[in-house]
Amino acid sequence: MHGDEIPAARPDSRVVLRPLTGGDQDEFLDLVKASAGLHHPWMSLPATPEQFQAYLARYEKPDEEALLVCVRGTGAIAGVVTINSIIRGRFQSASLAYAAFTPSAGQGYLTEGLDLVVRHAFQRLRLHRLEAQIQPGNHASLGLVRRAGFRHEGLSPEILFIDGAWRDHERWAITTGMVDIGPVEPHPTLPGH
Ligand SMILES: CC(C)(COP(=O)(O)OP(=O)(O)OC[C@H]1O[C@@H](n2cnc3c(N)ncnc32)[C@H](O)[C@@H]1OP(=O)(O)O)[C@@H](O)C(=O)NCCC(=O)NCCS
Repeated sequence: MHGDEIPAARPDSRVVLRPLTGGDQDEFLDLVKASAGLHHPWMSLPATPEQFQAYLARYEKPDEEALLVCVRGTGAIAGVVTINSIIRGRFQSASLAYAAFTPSAGQGYLTEGLDLVVRHAFQRLRLHRLEAQIQPGNHASLGLVRRAGFRHEGLSPEILFIDGAWRDHERWAITTGMVDIGPVEPHPTLPGH
């Protein structure tokens, strides 16, 4: 077991989560290169050491987290899920981004990893809501959030700048009441609890 591994809520899970670290740079960049065809035009991940260092610095801040989805046993990196722009106060909400890597894509690892991220966000970070913004043509991503139990909330025109243009995105979200996680003490920044 990796020292920094985040405890899995499901002991039968084929994957584990752990935070991205500087030591992952070479493997991460190799996987991004190998996955260019899978990621384009939906997602742009760091492709150079400089971009990786900037990405890492972003996710060392307290309102952002980058989690690697790793295959249990081998530790191979199957994908990455980032928890972006955590808003506390009355929202207790964040945005998700995610990508699989080509060598292990299409085997359900991201489905299991996303389930663990949702549980981590609700139980450990004590968030209330997670949102994924997805372009209507991104069928693999839509399938992933459907399998993870997210709810379609609507379409936001021109909401994100992706691949050189402002793109319409469907908004998919999951809230604590939609997941069987048991009682969780509210985050101290939630007013009036
Ligand atoms: C979206 C994305 C992360 C999904 O990755 P993925 O590897 O397909 O996701 P999963 O690990 O859940 O695998 C799902 C596939 O595995 C299959 N599978 C096999 N075993 C499975 C299991 N035990 N559980 C679930 N699915 C399983 C599913 O049937 C599905 O296959 P299909 O695509 O032929 O229907 C990936 O396509 C990607 O990186 N896309 C580019 C980046 C991107 O779009 N990010 C999101 C921007 S909004």
